[in-house]
Amino acid sequence: SENSEKMMSMKFEEIISTLTKRETLYPCRDHYQYKGFWFPFRYLRQTLSMQENFKAQPSDIFLCSYPKTGTTWLKALTFSIITRDRFSDDDSTNPLLTKQPHECVPTVEVDSFTNPTLVETEFPLLATHLPYTCLPPSILESDCKIIYICREPKDTFVSWWHYMQKVKESADAFKAEVVPFEQEFKWFCEGKSSCGPYWNHVLDYWIASSVDRPERVFFLKYEDLKSNTLCYVKKLAEFMGKPFSTEEENQGVAEKIVARCHFESLSNLEVNKSGWIHPNTFRVKNSAFFRKGEIGDWKNLLTEDMAKSVDHITHEKFQSLGFTW
Ligand code: A3P
Repeated sequence: SENSEKMMSMKFEEIISTLTKRETLYPCRDHYQYKGFWFPFRYLRQTLSMQENFKAQPSDIFLCSYPKTGTTWLKALTFSIITRDRFSDDDSTNPLLTKQPHECVPTVEVDSFTNPTLVETEFPLLATHLPYTCLPPSILESDCKIIYICREPKDTFVSWWHYMQKVKESADAFKAEVVPFEQEFKWFCEGKSSCGPYWNHVLDYWIASSVDRPERVFFLKYEDLKSNTLCYVKKLAEFMGKPFSTEEENQGVAEKIVARCHFESLSNLEVNKSGWIHPNTFRVKNSAFFRKGEIGDWKNLLTEDMAKSVDHITHEKFQSLGFTW
């Protein structure tokens, strides 16, 4: 009922009010620290609510990622894999032709603002930016499959920066407050970016995929996906329990999925050029999710010193685990 929802909301807001807040001159970018990670207020309220209320189904497959690491692309690829019986690739009814990938695969903490227990989806494919340790317990208890994508930290930050400029152009709430580049960079390095520290986000999923639940967590790097998309599409299909049959192999089904989800194909669709996402809440142009899709674009934005600072953190955090880029 509306009343109990209100009570719940108040309860979570009370919890949040006791948490450490990120110091800032930009109130609409307020972030709170929860279980070691930083969240904007309304995502945190939603996260807390989901931890209590979200019921995963054992057959659910979760796409997990830190923002700007290739989520949109992964959504398009996995959606194509899981729906390939329903929509053959020259079928003009394929949702990917008329819907942004984020509309095809909901991001639970974003799309469940109104009803945290239920995210409408026809296929058992859902996404989240939540850190591993902040996932609703029901996801791990149900032993759901998880696919995690990560990306080289400098490219991730630079992609985030450009994205935020687009968000500011399109979302009213952000218009007045342009956070300077140096500030965003400082927050990223200090681990105070949204869903950050980025490195811990990656590490927790990395450990889950290599130690805790290797059979249930598929760990993927954007760079690897880019250099060998076909091979990873096949691996993903296998992991998702939908391997390509010999007949499909002969028909080049995986190749067609790769082509349809290629940056050029997706970004040139009318829906992704001119549409909007979350028209009622977090209004952003669909085109904001397609910028360059390149590796190493950080070179066009970061100074040498900035690059060194990020590399230093990456080295410190990852070297002992043999994890590199
Ligand atoms: P750039 O800003 O470096 O171009 P997310 O989907 O997690 O928000 O990440 C967005 C990043 O993925 C952006 O990176 C975007 O251009 C890139 N991207 C989107 N679609 C892609 C695709 N089909 N292939 C490769 N990269 C893609």
